[in-house]
Amino acid sequence: MQEFSELGKTTSPVASGGDVFPELNPAPEQPDDEFAEVCAEDPAPEEEEREIDPYLVIKGVSKVFRKGAARLDKSKPGIVALDGVSLEVGKGEIFGLLGPNGAGKSTLIKVVTGLVIPDGGSVTLGGLDFKADKEAFMSKVGAQIETPVFFNKRSGWWNLKYLADLQGGLPDQRIKDIVEIVGLTERINSRVGTYSMGMRQRLGLAQAIMNKPELLVLDEPINGLDPDGIAQVRDLIRRLRDDYGTTVLFSSHILNEMQTLCDRVAFISKGKLVAVKTKKQIARGLGETTVLTVVCDDPKRAASLITSAYGFRTKVQGERLFVEVRNYNVAKINRKLVENGIEVESFTVKSRTLEEMYRELTR
Ligand SMILES: Nc1ncnc2c1ncn2[C@@H]1O[C@H](COP(=O)(O)OP(=O)(O)OP(=O)(O)O)[C@@H](O)[C@H]1O
Ligand SMILES: [Mg+2]
Repeated sequence: MQEFSELGKTTSPVASGGDVFPELNPAPEQPDDEFAEVCAEDPAPEEEEREIDPYLVIKGVSKVFRKGAARLDKSKPGIVALDGVSLEVGKGEIFGLLGPNGAGKSTLIKVVTGLVIPDGGSVTLGGLDFKADKEAFMSKVGAQIETPVFFNKRSGWWNLKYLADLQGGLPDQRIKDIVEIVGLTERINSRVGTYSMGMRQRLGLAQAIMNKPELLVLDEPINGLDPDGIAQVRDLIRRLRDDYGTTVLFSSHILNEMQTLCDRVAFISKGKLVAVKTKKQIARGLGETTVLTVVCDDPKRAASLITSAYGFRTKVQGERLFVEVRNYNVAKINRKLVENGIEVESFTVKSRTLEEMYRELTR
Protein backbone atom coordinates (compact mmCIF):
# COMPACT_ATOMS: atom_id res chain seq x y z
CA MET A 1 0.00 0.00 0.00
CA GLN A 2 1.13 3.52 -0.69
CA GLU A 3 1.78 5.85 2.24
CA PHE A 4 -1.34 7.85 2.94
CA SER A 5 0.75 11.01 3.10
CA GLU A 6 1.90 10.62 -0.51
CA LEU A 7 -1.37 11.88 -1.73
CA GLY A 8 -0.19 14.94 -2.74
CA LYS A 9 -25.48 21.41 -19.78
CA THR A 10 -24.48 18.69 -20.76
CA THR A 11 -23.93 20.04 -24.11
CA SER A 12 -24.70 17.89 -26.96
CA PRO A 13 -21.76 17.45 -29.35
CA VAL A 14 -24.21 18.71 -31.90
CA ALA A 15 -25.38 22.15 -31.03
CA SER A 16 -29.05 22.98 -31.19
CA GLY A 17 -30.56 22.38 -34.57
CA GLY A 18 -30.77 26.11 -35.09
CA ASP A 19 -26.97 26.35 -35.20
CA VAL A 20 -26.34 23.49 -37.54
CA PHE A 21 -29.39 23.72 -39.72
CA PRO A 22 -30.69 27.27 -39.97
CA GLU A 23 -34.33 27.33 -38.93
CA LEU A 24 -36.79 28.75 -41.39
CA ASN A 25 -39.62 28.71 -38.89
CA PRO A 26 -39.89 29.55 -35.20
CA ALA A 27 -38.89 26.69 -32.90
CA PRO A 28 -41.48 23.93 -33.03
CA GLU A 29 -43.43 22.98 -29.94
CA GLN A 30 -42.00 20.41 -27.61
CA PRO A 31 -43.13 16.84 -28.18
CA ASP A 32 -46.14 15.70 -26.20
CA ASP A 33 -45.72 14.22 -22.75
CA GLU A 34 -46.21 10.64 -23.84
CA PHE A 35 -43.34 10.87 -26.29
CA ALA A 36 -41.16 12.76 -23.84
CA GLU A 37 -41.70 9.94 -21.37
CA VAL A 38 -40.59 7.36 -23.90
CA CYS A 39 -37.48 9.41 -24.53
CA ALA A 40 -36.75 9.78 -20.82
CA GLU A 41 -37.00 6.08 -20.12
CA ASP A 42 -34.24 4.43 -18.14
CA PRO A 43 -32.33 1.61 -19.75
CA ALA A 44 -33.52 -1.89 -19.05
CA PRO A 45 -32.51 -2.75 -15.47
CA GLU A 46 -30.55 -5.86 -16.44
CA GLU A 47 -28.21 -3.70 -18.55
CA GLU A 48 -27.16 -1.76 -15.46
CA GLU A 49 -27.04 -4.51 -12.86
CA ARG A 50 -23.70 -4.57 -11.16
CA GLU A 51 -22.45 -6.07 -7.99
CA ILE A 52 -21.64 -3.77 -5.13
CA ASP A 53 -19.96 -4.98 -2.01
CA PRO A 54 -22.12 -3.24 0.62
CA TYR A 55 -19.94 -1.44 3.11
CA LEU A 56 -22.02 1.39 4.53
CA VAL A 57 -25.55 0.09 4.99
CA ILE A 58 -28.31 2.51 5.95
CA LYS A 59 -31.66 0.88 6.68
CA GLY A 60 -34.98 2.63 7.20
CA VAL A 61 -33.49 5.72 8.84
CA SER A 62 -36.04 8.31 10.00
CA LYS A 63 -35.66 11.57 11.85
CA VAL A 64 -38.29 14.07 12.95
CA PHE A 65 -37.00 17.27 14.56
CA ARG A 66 -39.27 18.47 17.33
CA LYS A 67 -39.12 21.93 18.84
CA GLY A 68 -41.14 23.59 21.61
CA ALA A 69 -44.59 22.06 22.14
CA ALA A 70 -43.93 19.32 19.57
CA ARG A 71 -41.09 18.05 21.71
CA LEU A 72 -43.41 17.28 24.61
CA ASP A 73 -46.54 16.40 22.68
CA LYS A 74 -45.74 13.73 20.07
CA SER A 75 -49.15 14.19 18.45
CA LYS A 76 -47.98 17.63 17.26
CA PRO A 77 -46.16 17.57 13.94
CA GLY A 78 -42.40 18.03 13.92
CA ILE A 79 -40.12 18.59 10.94
CA VAL A 80 -39.67 15.35 9.03
CA ALA A 81 -36.02 15.45 7.94
CA LEU A 82 -35.64 11.76 7.00
CA ASP A 83 -38.44 9.39 6.19
CA GLY A 84 -37.34 5.74 6.03
CA VAL A 85 -34.14 6.19 3.99
CA SER A 86 -32.36 2.98 3.00
CA LEU A 87 -29.26 2.78 0.86
CA GLU A 88 -26.06 0.82 0.48
CA VAL A 89 -22.69 2.28 -0.40
CA GLY A 90 -20.11 -0.13 -1.76
CA LYS A 91 -16.57 -0.43 -0.46
CA GLY A 92 -14.41 2.05 -2.36
CA GLU A 93 -17.37 3.76 -3.96
CA ILE A 94 -17.67 7.52 -4.45
CA PHE A 95 -21.30 8.11 -3.60
CA GLY A 96 -23.08 11.44 -3.93
CA LEU A 97 -26.16 12.87 -2.23
CA LEU A 98 -28.12 15.32 -4.31
CA GLY A 99 -31.31 17.17 -3.40
CA PRO A 100 -32.81 20.60 -2.84
CA ASN A 101 -32.31 22.73 0.27
CA GLY A 102 -33.92 21.04 3.25
CA ALA A 103 -34.11 17.63 1.52
CA GLY A 104 -32.35 15.86 4.40
CA LYS A 105 -28.80 15.39 3.05
CA SER A 106 -26.98 16.96 6.00
CA THR A 107 -29.24 15.14 8.43
CA LEU A 108 -28.39 11.82 6.78
CA ILE A 109 -24.68 12.68 6.88
CA LYS A 110 -25.02 13.63 10.56
CA VAL A 111 -26.74 10.33 11.30
CA VAL A 112 -23.84 8.46 9.67
CA THR A 113 -21.32 10.44 11.73
CA GLY A 114 -23.23 10.21 15.02
CA LEU A 115 -24.11 13.90 15.26
CA VAL A 116 -27.83 13.22 14.99
CA ILE A 117 -29.53 10.27 16.64
CA PRO A 118 -32.21 8.88 14.32
CA ASP A 119 -35.70 8.02 15.60
CA GLY A 120 -35.58 4.70 13.79
CA GLY A 121 -33.49 2.57 11.48
CA SER A 122 -29.90 1.37 11.59
CA VAL A 123 -26.47 2.25 10.19
CA THR A 124 -23.68 -0.28 9.83
CA LEU A 125 -20.15 0.07 8.47
CA GLY A 126 -18.35 -3.07 7.38
CA GLY A 127 -20.71 -5.01 9.64
CA LEU A 128 -20.15 -2.73 12.66
CA ASP A 129 -23.43 -1.42 14.01
CA PHE A 130 -23.33 2.26 14.95
CA LYS A 131 -25.32 1.79 18.15
CA ALA A 132 -23.57 -1.37 19.34
CA ASP A 133 -19.99 -0.57 18.21
CA LYS A 134 -19.91 3.23 18.18
CA GLU A 135 -16.23 3.61 18.99
CA ALA A 136 -14.97 1.09 16.45
CA PHE A 137 -17.41 2.51 13.88
CA MET A 138 -16.26 6.09 14.42
CA SER A 139 -12.56 5.15 14.33
CA LYS A 140 -13.04 4.33 10.64
CA VAL A 141 -14.80 7.59 9.76
CA GLY A 142 -13.37 10.98 8.82
CA ALA A 143 -15.84 13.80 8.33
CA GLN A 144 -16.27 17.39 7.36
CA ILE A 145 -19.75 18.63 8.12
CA GLU A 146 -21.01 22.03 7.00
CA THR A 147 -18.76 24.92 8.05
CA PRO A 148 -16.03 23.45 10.23
CA VAL A 149 -15.48 25.08 13.62
CA PHE A 150 -11.90 26.02 14.55
CA PHE A 151 -10.12 28.21 17.09
CA ASN A 152 -10.09 31.45 15.11
CA LYS A 153 -7.35 33.13 17.12
CA ARG A 154 -4.94 30.27 16.48
CA SER A 155 -3.17 29.32 13.27
CA GLY A 156 -4.29 26.56 10.95
CA TRP A 157 -1.21 24.60 12.00
CA TRP A 158 -2.06 25.00 15.70
CA ASN A 159 -5.61 23.78 15.07
CA LEU A 160 -4.44 20.69 13.18
CA LYS A 161 -1.84 19.86 15.83
CA TYR A 162 -4.52 20.27 18.51
CA LEU A 163 -6.95 17.96 16.68
CA ALA A 164 -4.18 15.43 15.99
CA ASP A 165 -3.23 15.43 19.68
CA LEU A 166 -6.84 14.69 20.61
CA GLN A 167 -6.53 11.56 18.49
CA GLY A 168 -3.22 10.46 19.98
CA GLY A 169 -0.83 12.74 18.04
CA LEU A 170 0.77 12.71 14.61
CA PRO A 171 4.34 13.42 13.43
CA ASP A 172 4.79 16.98 12.13
CA GLN A 173 5.83 15.62 8.74
CA ARG A 174 2.46 13.84 8.36
CA ILE A 175 0.58 17.02 9.18
CA LYS A 176 2.78 18.94 6.73
CA ASP A 177 1.97 16.41 4.02
CA ILE A 178 -1.75 16.70 4.69
CA VAL A 179 -1.52 20.51 4.56
CA GLU A 180 0.25 20.18 1.22
CA ILE A 181 -2.44 17.81 -0.08
CA VAL A 182 -5.22 20.27 0.67
CA GLY A 183 -3.22 23.20 -0.74
CA LEU A 184 -2.89 25.28 2.42
CA THR A 185 0.90 25.33 2.88
CA GLU A 186 1.28 29.05 2.24
CA ARG A 187 -1.29 30.12 4.81
CA ILE A 188 -1.04 27.38 7.39
CA ASN A 189 0.70 29.68 9.89
CA SER A 190 -1.92 32.45 9.59
CA ARG A 191 -4.70 32.76 12.15
CA VAL A 192 -7.81 30.85 11.09
CA GLY A 193 -9.85 34.00 11.72
CA THR A 194 -8.13 35.53 8.69
CA TYR A 195 -8.99 32.58 6.37
CA SER A 196 -11.37 32.87 3.45
CA MET A 197 -14.31 30.45 3.21
CA GLY A 198 -12.40 28.20 0.80
CA MET A 199 -9.37 28.11 3.11
CA ARG A 200 -11.57 27.02 6.00
CA GLN A 201 -12.99 24.28 3.78
CA ARG A 202 -9.46 23.09 2.99
CA LEU A 203 -8.55 23.08 6.68
CA GLY A 204 -11.73 21.10 7.36
CA LEU A 205 -10.71 18.58 4.72
CA ALA A 206 -7.26 18.30 6.27
CA GLN A 207 -8.75 17.33 9.64
CA ALA A 208 -11.17 14.93 7.93
CA ILE A 209 -8.38 12.88 6.33
CA MET A 210 -5.99 13.02 9.27
CA ASN A 211 -6.95 9.64 10.71
CA LYS A 212 -6.76 7.81 7.34
CA PRO A 213 -10.48 7.13 7.31
CA GLU A 214 -11.96 4.12 5.56
CA LEU A 215 -15.14 6.13 5.12
CA LEU A 216 -14.78 9.82 4.30
CA VAL A 217 -17.99 11.79 4.77
CA LEU A 218 -18.11 15.31 3.37
CA ASP A 219 -21.04 17.71 3.51
CA GLU A 220 -20.70 20.15 0.62
CA PRO A 221 -16.90 19.97 0.47
CA ILE A 222 -16.66 22.15 -2.63
CA ASN A 223 -18.97 24.87 -1.43
CA GLY A 224 -17.11 28.16 -1.62
CA LEU A 225 -14.07 26.79 -3.40
CA ASP A 226 -12.61 28.42 -6.49
CA PRO A 227 -12.27 26.30 -9.67
CA ASP A 228 -8.73 25.26 -8.70
CA GLY A 229 -9.96 24.30 -5.25
CA ILE A 230 -12.79 22.23 -6.74
CA ALA A 231 -10.34 20.43 -9.01
CA GLN A 232 -8.04 19.75 -6.04
CA VAL A 233 -10.85 18.29 -3.95
CA ARG A 234 -11.97 16.19 -6.93
CA ASP A 235 -8.43 14.85 -7.39
CA LEU A 236 -8.05 14.23 -3.67
CA ILE A 237 -11.29 12.23 -3.49
CA ARG A 238 -10.30 10.18 -6.54
CA ARG A 239 -6.82 9.47 -5.22
CA LEU A 240 -8.09 8.49 -1.79
CA ARG A 241 -10.42 6.02 -3.45
CA ASP A 242 -8.00 4.73 -6.08
CA ASP A 243 -4.90 4.45 -3.90
CA TYR A 244 -6.36 3.54 -0.51
CA GLY A 245 -9.79 2.14 -1.28
CA THR A 246 -11.43 4.91 0.76
CA THR A 247 -15.21 4.98 0.50
CA VAL A 248 -16.54 8.51 0.04
CA LEU A 249 -20.02 9.78 0.83
CA PHE A 250 -20.56 13.42 0.02
CA SER A 251 -23.19 16.00 -0.80
CA SER A 252 -23.05 18.92 -3.19
CA HIS A 253 -25.32 21.17 -5.22
CA ILE A 254 -22.85 21.42 -8.08
CA LEU A 255 -24.56 19.08 -10.51
CA ASN A 256 -21.89 18.53 -13.12
CA GLU A 257 -19.28 17.95 -10.42
CA MET A 258 -21.48 15.22 -8.92
CA GLN A 259 -21.89 13.63 -12.33
CA THR A 260 -18.16 13.73 -13.02
CA LEU A 261 -16.99 12.43 -9.68
CA CYS A 262 -19.58 10.01 -8.33
CA ASP A 263 -19.94 6.34 -9.18
CA ARG A 264 -23.54 6.64 -8.04
CA VAL A 265 -25.77 9.49 -6.99
CA ALA A 266 -28.74 9.29 -4.62
CA PHE A 267 -31.47 11.84 -5.28
CA ILE A 268 -33.17 12.90 -2.04
CA SER A 269 -36.34 14.93 -1.79
CA LYS A 270 -38.39 15.84 1.29
CA GLY A 271 -36.60 13.31 3.47
CA LYS A 272 -37.10 10.42 1.05
CA LEU A 273 -34.73 8.63 -1.26
CA VAL A 274 -36.32 9.03 -4.70
CA ALA A 275 -33.70 7.44 -6.97
CA VAL A 276 -30.17 6.07 -7.06
CA LYS A 277 -28.44 6.35 -10.42
CA THR A 278 -25.10 5.15 -11.66
CA LYS A 279 -22.81 7.46 -13.60
CA LYS A 280 -23.73 5.47 -16.71
CA GLN A 281 -27.45 5.83 -16.16
CA ILE A 282 -27.07 9.57 -15.68
CA ALA A 283 -24.96 9.93 -18.82
CA ARG A 284 -27.40 7.85 -20.82
CA GLY A 285 -30.38 9.77 -19.51
CA LEU A 286 -28.71 13.00 -20.54
CA GLY A 287 -26.52 12.61 -23.52
CA GLU A 288 -27.47 9.67 -25.58
CA THR A 289 -31.14 10.34 -25.76
CA THR A 290 -32.13 13.48 -27.53
CA VAL A 291 -35.38 14.46 -29.13
CA LEU A 292 -35.18 15.64 -32.68
CA THR A 293 -38.06 17.67 -34.05
CA VAL A 294 -38.36 17.90 -37.83
CA VAL A 295 -40.81 20.10 -39.66
CA CYS A 296 -41.06 18.91 -43.27
CA ASP A 297 -43.42 18.49 -46.22
CA ASP A 298 -44.01 14.75 -45.70
CA PRO A 299 -43.46 13.76 -42.06
CA LYS A 300 -45.01 10.29 -42.48
CA ARG A 301 -42.61 9.31 -45.26
CA ALA A 302 -39.74 10.92 -43.34
CA ALA A 303 -40.69 8.79 -40.30
CA SER A 304 -40.65 5.54 -42.24
CA LEU A 305 -37.33 6.47 -43.88
CA ILE A 306 -35.76 7.12 -40.47
CA THR A 307 -37.21 4.02 -38.87
CA SER A 308 -36.04 1.75 -41.65
CA ALA A 309 -32.59 3.36 -41.91
CA TYR A 310 -31.74 3.75 -38.20
CA GLY A 311 -34.41 1.98 -36.19
CA PHE A 312 -35.08 5.11 -34.12
CA ARG A 313 -38.52 5.58 -32.60
CA THR A 314 -40.60 8.20 -34.35
CA LYS A 315 -43.90 9.92 -33.85
CA VAL A 316 -45.81 12.15 -36.24
CA GLN A 317 -48.00 15.01 -35.06
CA GLY A 318 -49.43 17.15 -37.84
CA GLU A 319 -46.57 18.49 -39.91
CA ARG A 320 -44.06 17.65 -37.17
CA LEU A 321 -42.01 14.53 -36.79
CA PHE A 322 -40.41 13.66 -33.45
CA VAL A 323 -37.49 11.26 -33.39
CA GLU A 324 -35.84 9.69 -30.35
CA VAL A 325 -32.22 9.89 -31.42
CA ARG A 326 -29.39 7.98 -29.86
CA ASN A 327 -25.74 8.89 -30.29
CA TYR A 328 -26.28 12.05 -32.26
CA ASN A 329 -26.58 10.77 -35.80
CA VAL A 330 -28.34 14.01 -36.45
CA ALA A 331 -26.42 15.29 -39.45
CA LYS A 332 -26.84 11.92 -41.17
CA ILE A 333 -30.56 11.98 -40.57
CA ASN A 334 -30.92 15.37 -42.18
CA ARG A 335 -28.86 14.25 -45.17
CA LYS A 336 -30.95 11.12 -45.54
CA LEU A 337 -34.17 13.12 -45.66
CA VAL A 338 -32.85 15.65 -48.14
CA GLU A 339 -31.37 12.95 -50.39
CA ASN A 340 -34.77 11.30 -50.48
CA GLY A 341 -36.45 14.45 -51.67
CA ILE A 342 -37.98 15.54 -48.36
CA GLU A 343 -38.23 19.28 -47.95
CA VAL A 344 -36.95 19.99 -44.45
CA GLU A 345 -38.14 23.29 -43.05
CA SER A 346 -36.63 23.02 -39.60
CA PHE A 347 -34.57 20.60 -37.60
CA THR A 348 -34.20 21.00 -33.82
CA VAL A 349 -32.25 18.88 -31.35
CA LYS A 350 -32.92 18.93 -27.64
CA SER A 351 -30.93 17.03 -25.03
CA ARG A 352 -32.09 16.59 -21.48
CA THR A 353 -29.86 18.53 -19.11
CA LEU A 354 -28.71 17.28 -15.73
CA GLU A 355 -30.67 20.14 -14.22
CA GLU A 356 -33.85 18.87 -15.91
CA MET A 357 -33.19 15.34 -14.68
CA TYR A 358 -32.59 16.66 -11.16
CA ARG A 359 -35.83 18.67 -11.24
CA GLU A 360 -37.85 15.73 -12.54
CA LEU A 361 -36.55 13.48 -9.78
CA THR A 362 -36.69 15.85 -6.84
CA ARG A 363 -39.80 17.97 -7.48
N1 LIG B 1 -31.44 20.87 14.34
C1 LIG B 1 -32.56 20.97 13.63
N2 LIG B 1 -33.69 21.38 14.24
C2 LIG B 1 -34.84 21.47 13.54
N3 LIG B 1 -34.97 21.19 12.23
C3 LIG B 1 -33.87 20.81 11.60
C4 LIG B 1 -32.61 20.66 12.24
N4 LIG B 1 -31.70 20.24 11.33
C5 LIG B 1 -32.35 20.13 10.17
N5 LIG B 1 -33.66 20.45 10.31
C6 LIG B 1 -34.69 20.43 9.27
O1 LIG B 1 -34.62 19.16 8.64
C7 LIG B 1 -34.84 19.29 7.25
C8 LIG B 1 -33.66 18.71 6.49
O2 LIG B 1 -32.53 19.56 6.72
P1 LIG B 1 -31.08 19.24 6.16
O3 LIG B 1 -30.15 20.22 6.79
O4 LIG B 1 -30.81 17.81 6.36
O5 LIG B 1 -31.28 19.52 4.62
P2 LIG B 1 -30.19 19.54 3.43
O6 LIG B 1 -30.67 18.59 2.41
O7 LIG B 1 -28.83 19.35 3.99
O8 LIG B 1 -30.37 21.02 2.89
P3 LIG B 1 -29.24 22.05 2.30
O9 LIG B 1 -29.09 21.69 0.85
O10 LIG B 1 -29.91 23.37 2.47
O11 LIG B 1 -27.99 21.90 3.09
C9 LIG B 1 -35.07 20.76 6.99
O12 LIG B 1 -36.47 21.00 6.98
C10 LIG B 1 -34.44 21.44 8.19
O13 LIG B 1 -35.08 22.65 8.49
MG1 LIG C 1 -27.12 20.51 4.05
